[in-house]
Amino acid sequence: MAARLLDGTAAALAIRAELAPRIADFTRRAGRQPGLGIVLVGDKADSQIYVTNKLKSAADEGIGATLSHLPADASLDQVLTLVRMLNADPATDGVLVQSPMPEALGSTAMQSIFDAIDPAKDVDGFTPVNVGRLVQNRADLVPCTPAGIIELLKRSAIDIAGKHAVVIGRSDIVGKPLATLLLHRHATVTVCHSRTVDLQEVAATADILIAAIGRPGMVRKSFVKPGATVIDVGINRVTDPAVARELLGDRSARYEGFVKRGSAVVGDVHREVADIAGALSPVPGGVGPLTIAMLMANTLRAAEMRLIDTIVDRR
Ligand code: GUN
Repeated sequence: MAARLLDGTAAALAIRAELAPRIADFTRRAGRQPGLGIVLVGDKADSQIYVTNKLKSAADEGIGATLSHLPADASLDQVLTLVRMLNADPATDGVLVQSPMPEALGSTAMQSIFDAIDPAKDVDGFTPVNVGRLVQNRADLVPCTPAGIIELLKRSAIDIAGKHAVVIGRSDIVGKPLATLLLHRHATVTVCHSRTVDLQEVAATADILIAAIGRPGMVRKSFVKPGATVIDVGINRVTDPAVARELLGDRSARYEGFVKRGSAVVGDVHREVADIAGALSPVPGGVGPLTIAMLMANTLRAAEMRLIDTIVDRR
């Protein structure tokens, strides 16, 4: 039986419709739109696409987003100076530095940059203060992709409490914060990674399986318990025709798109999983749109909190 498809596009539209009156209310009360400052360093094609999507979504939502684009050879000091300017700008409520950074900045650059973001404007939830608050289950700003996955489960009426959730991937952006959120919602959580022994067998015990590894089509049928919910977080660009044929099927419209464009985006979950899973989030149209919706939600939340602080300060 084919898995129920978890429609991330529809869930994202519903979230954005819920945000609209709050954005209008903020704009009326503050006399300006919520403001999001996005920083992009370098010319990585995929990062440019993600940032363009974030800017477009913000414009559609009535959020004033600006892009500061630094060249690939920018220094760490230049990036930090820009972040500090955005921190100090009263009309900027959220600061997002798109990752990854150019390798030339060094392996610790990303953390130094996240450390520099004002926690009150940290719409990614990546600063040490917000990571700590998340672990303590009192976060205001939760990382967008994990928050989006929880929304997708909630809005699809998939119970989390008491379930065994297996998260494949231990990144700071997805795996770790998602494991924490699932734990707070009373799942029994296992985090798997590249050194996990018998990963396939562990994955196959999951009621909720989350694939956030960044390896095209790695999760096959044998990783999935019949009827399990499978969430595909992978966004992998494939250019090899043999890989595309295997993952998209050579008679699909998506494979035709691959032939035309020479590349396609695929998830971490193989299409054969649809035959065994109970519910499955597709790529595209699954987690991706929710990540952007949650960024808008975080920007509004940061703006609302700052407005309250301003009113209190004036008293
Ligand atoms: N790169 C991939 N995902 C993300 C994200 O959620 N935030 C930022 N800043 N960069 C990313």
